Amino acid sequence: MRQKLVAGNWKMHGSLQSNQILLAQLRESLDAKLGAQSRLEVLVCVPAPYFAQVQSILNGSSIAWGAQNVSQHKSGAYTGEISASMLQDFGCRHVLIGHSERRGMYGETDFEVAAKFQAAKMAGLIPVLCVGETLQERESGVTESVIARQIDAVLEVSGIDGFWQAVVAYEPVWAIGTGKTASPGQAQAVHAYIRQRLSQHHAGLAEQLRIVYGGSVKADNAAELFAMPDIDGGLVGGASLVSAEFVAICEAACS
Ligand code: PGA
Repeated sequence: MRQKLVAGNWKMHGSLQSNQILLAQLRESLDAKLGAQSRLEVLVCVPAPYFAQVQSILNGSSIAWGAQNVSQHKSGAYTGEISASMLQDFGCRHVLIGHSERRGMYGETDFEVAAKFQAAKMAGLIPVLCVGETLQERESGVTESVIARQIDAVLEVSGIDGFWQAVVAYEPVWAIGTGKTASPGQAQAVHAYIRQRLSQHHAGLAEQLRIVYGGSVKADNAAELFAMPDIDGGLVGGASLVSAEFVAICEAACS
């Protein structure tokens, strides 16, 4: 059975003061639960300036922390970029790759996304590869071909073996931050498609791969999404900033 994963994506939110409060609340509510059973893994993907703070607060807890982006390069003259080894210096184990906000607002191409995925893998980080279609793509009936293109770009660079230990996040762009969630059935259909596509390369790997759903996951819709057979947890934006919401989503993943 696949272990569920609930990952918070703080995006560009937070401050030293608010992080302190949020993380203390998460530790208090989740540490004992996560320690007692391993059906769920919890992760927060935080803005880079707060890595040291998050590391010092979460050290020794069962909540992992990670980054929202990484450079495809190891080091060098890349002003403003952050390398995989820098993330590891601060205890990050996971990194989001190809979030739709990076693809859409910062022009990350499938090719760059694949290079970042590979850089994360080479460094020993766990990439959380984000894929998803826009509203226009869904309405034109090309959802599956968009997802296939995004997955295949990574397969081309990293091969199917690159997906061992990796996580895929299906995030329909039209559901992110909009309050519109894909219905459990809509999300399940795409998750099953992703698993089936990867199983053509390696059935055993596809069966083990965790595919999480993102896009307006909230305390009141998490349980029905997580009950779907191919939905292995969530990537949570807005609701990960409110401790009671995030904790309730984590609880829905353990039930
Ligand atoms: P949302 O964001 O939960 O606020 O829709 C999800 C994401 O962008 O990862």
